[in-house]
Amino acid sequence: GIAHAPRRTTSHENWVIFKGGPVKAVILVGGEGTRLRPLTIHTPKPMIPLVNIPLLEYTLHHLKEYGIREIILSTCYFPQVFESYFGDGSRLGLEITYVAEERPLGTCGAVKNVEKYLDGTFIVLNGDVLSSLNLEDMISFHRTRGAVGTIYLTPVEDPTAYGLVLVDEKGRVESFLEKPSWDQVTTSLINGGTYILELEVLDLVPPGQNYSFERGLFPALLERDRPLFGYPSLAYWMEIGTPEKYLQAHWDILDGKFEPGFLGIKGGCSPHLGEGTFVDPSAHILGTVVIENGCHIGADVTIAGPAVLGSGCSVGERTTVEGSVILDSCTIGRACRIKDSILSKGVSLQDEVHVLDNSVIGDNCLIEKDNQLKRAVRVFPGTYLKEGSIKF
Ligand code: GDD
Repeated sequence: GIAHAPRRTTSHENWVIFKGGPVKAVILVGGEGTRLRPLTIHTPKPMIPLVNIPLLEYTLHHLKEYGIREIILSTCYFPQVFESYFGDGSRLGLEITYVAEERPLGTCGAVKNVEKYLDGTFIVLNGDVLSSLNLEDMISFHRTRGAVGTIYLTPVEDPTAYGLVLVDEKGRVESFLEKPSWDQVTTSLINGGTYILELEVLDLVPPGQNYSFERGLFPALLERDRPLFGYPSLAYWMEIGTPEKYLQAHWDILDGKFEPGFLGIKGGCSPHLGEGTFVDPSAHILGTVVIENGCHIGADVTIAGPAVLGSGCSVGERTTVEGSVILDSCTIGRACRIKDSILSKGVSLQDEVHVLDNSVIGDNCLIEKDNQLKRAVRVFPGTYLKEGSIKF
């Protein structure tokens, strides 16, 4: 497949952060990812492929680059999917412990639930965020200030979908406001979904109950005047919340705005063709395009980047694919048009089907000839659409 670059050797070999003892990471992956349906109907969001590799794998590589090897995955929605893919973590050089909740305990309740695996300073990460945050620097920031908690802050244009964090000139958090309304927005800095915490903060968390960092623990720490800091960073940050953001994260990798060292894809270079992939000599591959293993691209096809195709896909004559992500094992007929859209795995499109404008087709759908799916339509997994059923 796509050549994976040798492990990047970083300057982090002798760990500043380990001076105060090793740091374990808890990754929160229990959410249902409702805004990303239908992609998340049978797959938990962190397991959805990003340039053909599960989103969570990016976070795991990122932690490993900083010498953080002991990982606790806090699961709830489809817990078994994580373990069957990552196993004990040894393939990635990590030790992964899985803790599944029977019912959602909330972001902070989930961490309280794994307290027995923690023994000192630890890091918590939302499992749906992609970032190049400098963890070494953040941990040393946390330690020099004697903080009990440090929140990664990232600037965004619209903070209303996130947790707004106000800090004083020394970086101490003054207030935390989850999902503010526009009239409450006085900064662009939001909670980036990564925290460094001391074990003692968990004493404030009620066990076995649904409790959140955002509405529970952070306000409780502020009320008690405990040292809670914000660590602002301009590192790459993207929450894979919606289909638009899912596509954007692909494009950021393809054009080099975000460069995960392990992936072996240099932004802006094209095309990346996997093993056993056949591209007909009359096909046009333009811009940055990744096509995985065992694909068949037919005569007079145009694939205009940015675009990503998973393994085992076939694309019929005269079809055009543009600005789209197509997951594994999709079969696309002749003279189809796919633009700015997502096909989940195993989708079959017969001839002359259009999928346009941020539409998302769920796993294993069969769309017969002559259908036009547009205007961000979302099609449930396994849907069968008869010939000519939808035309706008
Ligand atoms: N184990 C477990 N149990 N995980 C959970 C639970 C739970 O009950 N609830 C949520 N999670 C996981 C989700 O899978 C996700 O990875 C992460 O915790 C964040 O939860 P969301 O429910 O997706 O929160 P959000 O995206 O609305 O907002 C959060 O993230 C923003 C940054 O992306 C908040 O932390 C905001 O303050 C923050 O700005």
